[in-house]
Amino acid sequence: MAIKEEIGNLCARLRSYQDAYYKEGKSLVSDQEYDRLFDRLIALERENPEYILSDSPTRRVGSDLTNDFPEYEHSVPVLSLDKAYSEGEVLSFFQKSIKKEGAKLSFAAEEKIDGISMVLYYEDGLLRRAVTRGNGIVGNDVTANIATIKSVPLRLTESVDIAVRGEVYLPKKAFEEINRSIENPSDRAANPRNLAAGSVRRLKSSETAAIPLDIFSYEGFFSSPSFEKRDHLSILSTLKRLGFRINDHIAFFSETKEESEKRLRDADLEGEGYSFDGLEEYLRKKTAERPSLGYEIDGLVFKINELGVRERLGYTEHHPRWAIAYKFESPQAISKLLGVTCQVGRTGRITPVAEIEPTLLNGSTIRRATLHNQEYIDSLELAIGDSVSITKRGDVIPAVEEVIEKNGDGNRTYILPSLCPTCSAPLKKDGAHLFCPNYSCPDQVIGRIAFFSSRDQMDIENMGPKTVKELYERGMVLSIADIYKADYDQLAGVEGFGEKSVELIKKGVEESKNRSFRTVLSSLGINELGKKSAELLASSGFDSFQKLIDCAKRGDREPLIAIKGIGESMADSIIGAFSSEERIMLLKELESLGLHSDEKMDKREEEDLEQIFLGQVWVATGSFDAFNPRSKALKEIEKRGGKTTGSITGKTTHLLVGRGGGSKRSEAEKHGVKLVDEKEFIRLLKMDPPKLSEPSLFD
Ligand code: IVH
Repeated sequence: MAIKEEIGNLCARLRSYQDAYYKEGKSLVSDQEYDRLFDRLIALERENPEYILSDSPTRRVGSDLTNDFPEYEHSVPVLSLDKAYSEGEVLSFFQKSIKKEGAKLSFAAEEKIDGISMVLYYEDGLLRRAVTRGNGIVGNDVTANIATIKSVPLRLTESVDIAVRGEVYLPKKAFEEINRSIENPSDRAANPRNLAAGSVRRLKSSETAAIPLDIFSYEGFFSSPSFEKRDHLSILSTLKRLGFRINDHIAFFSETKEESEKRLRDADLEGEGYSFDGLEEYLRKKTAERPSLGYEIDGLVFKINELGVRERLGYTEHHPRWAIAYKFESPQAISKLLGVTCQVGRTGRITPVAEIEPTLLNGSTIRRATLHNQEYIDSLELAIGDSVSITKRGDVIPAVEEVIEKNGDGNRTYILPSLCPTCSAPLKKDGAHLFCPNYSCPDQVIGRIAFFSSRDQMDIENMGPKTVKELYERGMVLSIADIYKADYDQLAGVEGFGEKSVELIKKGVEESKNRSFRTVLSSLGINELGKKSAELLASSGFDSFQKLIDCAKRGDREPLIAIKGIGESMADSIIGAFSSEERIMLLKELESLGLHSDEKMDKREEEDLEQIFLGQVWVATGSFDAFNPRSKALKEIEKRGGKTTGSITGKTTHLLVGRGGGSKRSEAEKHGVKLVDEKEFIRLLKMDPPKLSEPSLFD
């Protein structure tokens, strides 16, 4: 028999034995016979790799060859989810979506699996690629490892092209067993997600195969139009039909419980039907059920069911507008509301802030917490003197969660002022928020300057919000351009500014002139023009201020809308911003002060750097003081000629070790990789040691 044919026959036979065993619990052959056939297939494949089938059963056991995880550009958006922490916020998502659409809508609810996000790409019904989320645009190809997961179909029941999103996870029981078998407690993973994440990136897929990972698939992006895809429920039942494992614990929300139940039945799905009024009951039930589930969930996901509506609502830079994640409560503290102050943001938005009796939460003392807007205060019926519970949202920003006990002073629900607390302009309402309409309102100006200089933007060291405020109040920096014109020596002697700190400010300002064109663009604080859109613009030919100004002059938004990821309202905002005389003057001024006004200027800076890392391959682990997020350190390496990768392979030469670095360290030691700590790294870069500042809550 020809080898190719024999391989095909063996695959088909073994697959049918596996199906009978895993799906029906039947053994069609003896173990010895099965092993004999399997070994024969492995041997044939090893000698004739050109004949390996992409759905070969050998893929399930993985291989001992070293994987690398090449980067792969996603063809579907791999975004995160907007978050809600209370029933009220989920209800308001329902209401807002219905209002926006002006029609009846229904919603699917799923468990939010606490695992690793994965996109599975199929062509002609065969698994071609499994890619991690990465930065949402580019992820790592981990196909060989993911193919070892039994519930990932290698071949679908129909020959279709499809991208499927799912969550790879490790069941709780398996996690506990694995951890129990590890002697040294410090080598154990903190939670199932961490262990799953490590397993997905094992260098040998045979090692991944030894970990009982599983997957739930929850979104499908079909490219063949013949596919039924009217709504989310039909996506789920199609996924099921194609061979994917979906989570049966779903719920459906529509106007009546009966209708919801019928919709689930019609889609041939298990699950529970609810009316919108049933939301509280559903949340209570799932919260109670959570500990008894076999896997970790960290919340619930609510998704608009109608796909046409999803398409119309689209996406922001971070999340789809058609879904929201309800997160299970974070730790709480109880305190008392002493007063409310209003902050005026850089866009003029008024954010009420609760001033509370200092209280300890998660190890830090909280004195203030956000109240979002009047609607939020109303929904809490919050008054001064009330006892309130406080949580840290997303574990960072404290928020007032609910009123625990009403005040005894007769105080009524707090009402926001009608005049701007800073400039006394009458406030205007837009959507749920109040805005100060005065573009020159001091707090807005200070906010714009502070945003420009912030760590995530131009990263001007030593120019945090407090310094910006001081400079503004002294009349030294009244606009973004003033940052580069001010005489900082005037600060010497002012309380809090020693000679040294003045020098550091000057140095920070000078260094910030090297930031890339894209960074300058996204730091201007133009509505809707964030980091992602700046990237999109620059990489689509709008790589200088002049080109944007020219486009705005023509008033032609077509070339902007033609860029995938730039919508109509963003295009309008860009055109508005780059046709304003005031802004054009600012841009010209920034250019003359030495900032990058054109992408061409970025290159020069990198060419000038000494290529000290040429030929080296670096990996970073843990967190760093001067490089936060960690990608900043990676960028410094790349600028100096080094390569960076996400995991340690035989090619890795250096591991940059930060605080809390985990398994990579031992992996590196095994491979004889050189370890470099942050201090040493800074020395190599010939940078000055960083001065660390406490991040402010209200930056
Ligand atoms: S929907 C564009 N459904 O949660 C579609 N996500 O915090 C967005 N997740 O990145 C995802 N279970 O990795 C969706 N049933 C579920 C989910 C789920 C877990 C993860 C997913 C996402 C993250 C957002």
